[in-house]
Amino acid sequence: MGKYIIKGGNKLSGEVFVSGAKNAVLPILASTVLNGGICILKNVPMLLDTFVAIDILKDLGCEVSYRENTVVVNSKNMNKTDVKEDLVKKMRSSIIFLGAIISRFKQASISYPGGCNLGKRPIDFHLDAFEKIGIKIEDDKNIIKATVDSIKENIIVLPFASVGATQNIILASIFVKGKIVIKNCAKEPEIIDMVRFLRKMGAKIYGEGTHIITIEGVEKLNDIVEYTIMPDRIEAGTFLCMSAITNGDVTVKGIIPQYLTALLDILNQIGCNIQIYKDSIKIKNKDVLKPIDFLETKPYPYFPTDLQPQIMALLATICGTSIIKENIFEARNKHISELNKLGCNIIEDSATFIINGKNNLYGKNVFAKDLRGGASLIMAGLVAQGETIVQGGCYIDRGYENIDKKLSLLGANIKGLKD
Ligand code: UD1
Repeated sequence: MGKYIIKGGNKLSGEVFVSGAKNAVLPILASTVLNGGICILKNVPMLLDTFVAIDILKDLGCEVSYRENTVVVNSKNMNKTDVKEDLVKKMRSSIIFLGAIISRFKQASISYPGGCNLGKRPIDFHLDAFEKIGIKIEDDKNIIKATVDSIKENIIVLPFASVGATQNIILASIFVKGKIVIKNCAKEPEIIDMVRFLRKMGAKIYGEGTHIITIEGVEKLNDIVEYTIMPDRIEAGTFLCMSAITNGDVTVKGIIPQYLTALLDILNQIGCNIQIYKDSIKIKNKDVLKPIDFLETKPYPYFPTDLQPQIMALLATICGTSIIKENIFEARNKHISELNKLGCNIIEDSATFIINGKNNLYGKNVFAKDLRGGASLIMAGLVAQGETIVQGGCYIDRGYENIDKKLSLLGANIKGLKD
């Protein structure tokens, strides 16, 4: 969508089903090149980023077809090992293709993903680890050229539990002769999902969800794999925050509640009534919501950076002062000036944000500058007086499938316009 137009004031109520997880499907789509066979992926969210990953696969020579939320990739005739620069520029996480391609073809090249809306986002951990397992990395006019004779055993200790680096190292290690151990790896649920997919493909990986992952090399993978992508915990968390901001009564369905513990703790503290079921969560505010002293983003299982803008929009409408510290991305602050245009009072002190909550926002024309920041603007629009126009809807479509339709079904007055 080009933009979303929201008329604020409606309480959300009813049930909403979340889609498959964006941050799981993208590395899994990259992993489909590994087996040189067929991968059938179900519960795929058909997001802008999913289509970029599909375009990369097609450009590499894979056959890809999709119908509703099922994507079938056949990588048998894949005949290219360089990922097209314009596609890499569209989606930073395409760097994960490097590990998958080098694993199968012993060579791969990709341009540096460069900076993005969230700041520098370097890939030094990925490349340092690749060198430690025998991959030669050359920098040819801003293109990374990776080659290897055979992947070598090693123990890699990551300086920081990076999600992308953990995924890339796992993918590069699938055919190692012996084993590779990654210490201080990321524990995010989306890594668990990628490992489960790879295990179905025949890979031998242990320890996902802990700080140490071990990959034992295999010689061959299965020709056909079928896998269902996990539900999106960030989309689920966004709907919970959206319900709370509108003083609504919403059940978020088709989810894994345990992956949302850090957010649920905060929602409980501010006064939401939360009922947790096997695969759904019902949320309703108890009384008037209260601010929170301090909240900081950290790797899983702590509060996710991907929910920072949404919890900020919620806190900005709760009277009193709340403080948030962003520890993962230096430039995850672009939503703040836009939220302030809608009447919020948020002050930035480098990576610490002081939120002076108030309950009278008013509709304006604002700009989404990244995905989750865009979601926070829609949230503010849900309670702002009058009409809020969120431009830059394409950012929001990178991570939310049919957000306007889902919110309309919950009672919101929202319209997505193509331009
Ligand atoms: C990050 C988030 C992930 C989120 C995703 C999409 C964390 C830990 N990671 O994953 O939850 O779903 O964005 O928004 O919350 N870094 C380096 N060198 C590297 C790699 C990373 O310095 O080679 C730094 C980054 O600048 C950042 C931190 O490490 O400050 C975490 O980065 P990483 O987890 O790799 O980012 P993503 O994989 O994009």
